[in-house]
Amino acid sequence: MTGPILFCGDPHGRFGHIIEAADRTQASGVILLGDMEPQRPLHLELAPLLECKVPVWFIHGNHDADSDELWMRVWGSELADRNVHGRVVELPDGRRLAGLGGVFRETVWYPSASAARAGAPAFRSRLEHSKSTPRQDRWGGSGTHRKHWGTIYPEDIDSLAEMRADVLILHEAPAYHPNGFDLLDTLAQSMGAKVVVHGHHHDRLDSADRWAEQGFKSYGVGLRGITSIDAKGNAEVVVAGELDDARLGRLL
Ligand SMILES: [Fe+2]
Repeated sequence: MTGPILFCGDPHGRFGHIIEAADRTQASGVILLGDMEPQRPLHLELAPLLECKVPVWFIHGNHDADSDELWMRVWGSELADRNVHGRVVELPDGRRLAGLGGVFRETVWYPSASAARAGAPAFRSRLEHSKSTPRQDRWGGSGTHRKHWGTIYPEDIDSLAEMRADVLILHEAPAYHPNGFDLLDTLAQSMGAKVVVHGHHHDRLDSADRWAEQGFKSYGVGLRGITSIDAKGNAEVVVAGELDDARLGRLL
């Protein structure tokens, strides 16, 4: 495959449009930005891509940890090792891709001055959190409640900040977004990322006037939307998100 790399906004249980777009564009890679909520194990949902040897990477979203069944279909799938949360992988075009899945939650840490603890974390790490989690509520090896597999911990940010990447994918949004976080701008800058792509908010707002100040290009990909982004960081909408137009009118 010699086509573009496709960045896919929250699929929320539907994958046909991704398989169709990958086939139509002869995609050289497919990247999912979280909230897959697959109705069967993720490798079965994406089997046509795998059969055509299209490489797939993803980060998890908050909703991927909403139930035991969803957790198993994502973290228990044969594609589990394609989750790039907290690490860096190399894309077919040589770019380094890093990922941060999940969302900020007040129970653990909400890095905003307006938060109840003024942004101070209750727990710095998953392990620390597990020690105050009742035994009957612990899930899997993490020792925290299952839903916190979809939660960001300070340790996740700290370890990524030591790494270098060209493209950073997030489920949460960086600061350009009305519901974004300054801390994620700082993270991208620390990593030297020139492109940041996120899902979660089901919108695709134009942030180009912020790029010079941020030091990176930022793109949101909407609900079941697909955007290709080339090695220079130029984006092209392959499939518009289902709510892109409505959200544009509401937020701006
Ligand atoms: Fe989400």
